[in-house]
Amino acid sequence: MRNIAIFASGSGSNAENIIRYFKNHPDVIIDSVWSNKKEAYVLQRAKNLGVESNYFTRQEYYDSDQMIRELQKRNIELIVLAGFLWLVPPEFIDAFEIINIHPALLPNYGGKGMYGSRVHESVISNKESESGITIHLVNKEYDKGEHLLQVKCPVFPEDTPDTLAARIHELEYEYFPAAIEDFLNRKS
Ligand code: GAR
Repeated sequence: MRNIAIFASGSGSNAENIIRYFKNHPDVIIDSVWSNKKEAYVLQRAKNLGVESNYFTRQEYYDSDQMIRELQKRNIELIVLAGFLWLVPPEFIDAFEIINIHPALLPNYGGKGMYGSRVHESVISNKESESGITIHLVNKEYDKGEHLLQVKCPVFPEDTPDTLAARIHELEYEYFPAAIEDFLNRKS
C-alpha cells in the first residue's frame, strides 16, 4: 500500500476531491489530513469521509522532529499540499516527496503570501488574459520546485477573484488527483 498524507490550511475542497478519488483505489491510501489551523473546514471534511484529521502547531512543525517521525512511522510515501500556507521546512523535504498545487501559472504569481484569492486578485488587476494551475514538486523555496503539470484557462475582462477562483478550482478537481496518481506510477 502507498500512503499519502494531505496538508491543508483552509476549506479543503481539493483535499476532499483527492480523498474521494482514491477511496476505492487498489493500492493508494489517504492515511490522514493535517492542518495548521484548528478551525480549518478541511479537518471536518476529512472526518466526514472517515479519514483521520490532525491539527499541528507551529512549534510541532518547525521546531521538533515529532511530526516527521510520526509520518515515517506510518510509511507515508508522499505528502500532498492542498491549499497549505506554511513554508515546508528542509527536514520535511529531505524526508519525503512532496507535491503542491498552485492556482496560477508559475513562475508568475507565486512566492510567499501568494495564496488563494490574493493570487486571483493580482492576475485580474494585471489584466492577464490567461491563468491556470501548476502542480509541482516542493523544494526549499516557495513555489520553485520542478513542474509536473500546468493547465491553462482564460481570464475574462468581467472576471472577479471569485469567478476566476471557481474556474481554477474546476481545473484543480479535474487534474490534481490524476497528477498524483501519475506521479506515483512513474516512480514505482
Ligand atoms: C486552491 O485553489 C489551491 O490551489 C490554493 O489554495 C486553494 C485551496 O482551496 N493553493 C495556494 O494558493 C498555495 N499557494 P481548497 O481549500 O478549497 O482546496
